[in-house]
Amino acid sequence: MTDSISLEPNALRLRAADAIAECRLIATMSEETGRTTRRYLTQPVAEVHARLRARMEALGMAVTVDAVGNLRGVWRPAGVSGKLLVLGSHIDTVPDAGAFDGVLGVVLGLEWVRLAQELGLDRPIEVIAFSEEEGVRYGVPFLGSRAVTGTFDLSMLAYEDAEGVRMDTAIRAFGLDPAGISAARIDDEVLGFVEIHIEQGPILEAEGLSLAVVEGIAGQSRLGFRFTGHANHAGTTPMHLRRDALAAAAEWMLAVETAAREVEGLVATAGKILVEPNATNVIPGVVEVSLDVRHIENRVRSQFVKEFQRTASTIAHKRGVEVEWVEKMEQETVPMDRVLSDDLLAAVAAAGFPERKMPSGAGHDAMVMAARAPAAMLFLRSPGGISHHPDESVLEEDVEAALTAGVFFLRRMSGPMKL
Ligand code: HGY
Ligand code: MN
Ligand code: MN
Repeated sequence: MTDSISLEPNALRLRAADAIAECRLIATMSEETGRTTRRYLTQPVAEVHARLRARMEALGMAVTVDAVGNLRGVWRPAGVSGKLLVLGSHIDTVPDAGAFDGVLGVVLGLEWVRLAQELGLDRPIEVIAFSEEEGVRYGVPFLGSRAVTGTFDLSMLAYEDAEGVRMDTAIRAFGLDPAGISAARIDDEVLGFVEIHIEQGPILEAEGLSLAVVEGIAGQSRLGFRFTGHANHAGTTPMHLRRDALAAAAEWMLAVETAAREVEGLVATAGKILVEPNATNVIPGVVEVSLDVRHIENRVRSQFVKEFQRTASTIAHKRGVEVEWVEKMEQETVPMDRVLSDDLLAAVAAAGFPERKMPSGAGHDAMVMAARAPAAMLFLRSPGGISHHPDESVLEEDVEAALTAGVFFLRRMSGPMKL
């Protein structure tokens, strides 16, 4: 094993520019013209697969697509066994997304494989482009990483998307077989999973830092609330005789926002709303609204989910409106692995960058992979703290920093492992 690397001067900066260009190209592979929207197993995912497969095959990786649509490349140096290092992130997006949430982690994972090969390292590496992390199409996130960790709930195959397409139908339409989902579970002995991801928040920029290592990922609760009033004529129904579902939902959403503002570290978001019959001259009869609640302490998050449910009942009762809710997902806060995170932090320091650890308010596949292997995350600065928005970006210098840190991290991951 040689662990020296002889790179042209500026080589990593050029690779950083190439990686950013690759993410921006992949961002054009979208369900919509002029903006980036790539939901689970929609047609543009096949284009992304073709693009990333070519990069994987150019690295001599064995490439497969598993039954839930994860694109997986494995590099096994000749004659080397040993525990697998797994890298990766997701390739699905939110509607009107940026170019880097998820995809950057796959592209840089492949750049780390290239560095490992140039370093002559003896560590097998798998890079996974997870097929679904955002939960946009079927309302439940982490479908890809749940299959990889063997925690995929097969009852989800009956879930339907907004067009009434069942999940198993979507899987078959993509050319995959849901019967093979259990085979997607990673069986190798895994040394660790590392996800490289943009911070998606303002902290690193505020502190003028390129990189941070994630200490833990905040838990999240996702619920759907349904307010049922009575549709009626907007012109003839006096205000005091109305049972307006949208007015009730609006009062509740403001009450949720007011309460969340009072609690340090608590975030609550009503991000998606459906109004029926959704006509200018009809009093809304039914409103469905999503709620996303997060806090790094599970106890606080659960306490406020219950409070928001009580508030909904109180407001609905006062307005003569019915309200019901369904809990779509409960994800506990997940600490990252200390040993692997310390290795990552040591590599950041060895690369010449300040050692910064921080929590993640955003969810990531690493919080699911942590059930199967030691998991760690490397954050890159988000200029403007912007994400889940087309203005999301990364700086070349920060991508170069992640590549440089990768050289030191991969060296620490090669050879007989202490993990
Ligand atoms: O919603 C999240 O935290 C992540 O972007 N999926
Ligand atoms: Mn996201
Ligand atoms: Mn993400």
